[in-house]
Amino acid sequence: MRSALSFTVNMLRLGVLFLCAVSAILLGTPPSQAHIPPHNETARVARFVAHHCDWGALATISSHEPVKGQPFANVFSVSDGPRGHGSGVPYFYLTAIEISVQDLQLNANASLTMSLAQTPYCREKHYDPQSPLCAHIILSGIIEKVEGNENDTAKIALFRRHPEMAQWPPDHNWFFAKLNITNIWVLDYFGGIKTVTPDEYYKAKP
Ligand SMILES: *[C@@H]1O[C@H](CO)[C@@H](O)[C@H](O)[C@H]1NC(C)=O
Ligand SMILES: *[C@@H]1O[C@H](CO)[C@@H](O)[C@H](O)[C@H]1NC(C)=O
Ligand SMILES: *[C@@H]1O[C@H](CO)[C@@H](O)[C@H](O)[C@H]1NC(C)=O
Ligand SMILES: *[C@@H]1O[C@H](CO)[C@@H](O)[C@H](O)[C@H]1NC(C)=O
Repeated sequence: MRSALSFTVNMLRLGVLFLCAVSAILLGTPPSQAHIPPHNETARVARFVAHHCDWGALATISSHEPVKGQPFANVFSVSDGPRGHGSGVPYFYLTAIEISVQDLQLNANASLTMSLAQTPYCREKHYDPQSPLCAHIILSGIIEKVEGNENDTAKIALFRRHPEMAQWPPDHNWFFAKLNITNIWVLDYFGGIKTVTPDEYYKAKP
């Protein structure tokens, strides 16, 4: 009985290990193993950072006292697509009861910053988050509700990376949104911040 039980437990452990290995393969290469593009290929670096980050800080113009009219930064889960299939478009899953989303309803201009500090890349290389070598990007633009078929794209992008989203309370009336990017800044090396146009960014092969 006991050995049957321990056999079952060991089989379960093996099963879990196998599932972990399979999901690691399915979820794609972690950023520590994927190679960041050379720093002179700024648009590709921007796409790399946007793709490998699972969250970012989104700054809005606050609509709430006592900071009404002032910048307000808040963390949001993002995804530009399943791992290895990034589109460059940062998608969000939002609800109107959220404080920053209320700001966006009055003024949809926003700025999203994402940093490889959240990935093993900077930690393994011992790059401080404020070091330009710990590549980070700032995207500004307009947060827009996603419409029609793009709903499906946004859902696949977000739910694959953030499976918990599927369980978020339905009474919060979640909707899919994206940042329509107008300006891009990249810090990935010494010598000052660089800019990339949205056109260069979307055309770049990450
Ligand atoms: C970046 O530099 C490498 C050589 O260091 C060069 O081959 C490549 O063309 C450069 N890319 C751009 C976009 O300038
Ligand atoms: C973005 O900000 C500008 C003013 O800076 C404003 O005119 C415009 O309406 C805003 N756009 C949206 C979609 O809220
Ligand atoms: C999908 O898009 C439509 C508008 O085309 C919108 O009415 C609907 O609520 C969206 N679905 C989700 C889950 O966001
Ligand atoms: C951003 O907005 C412009 C103008 O509304 C639109 O033509 C463009 O397709 C949008 N880009 C993205 C990536 O949604």
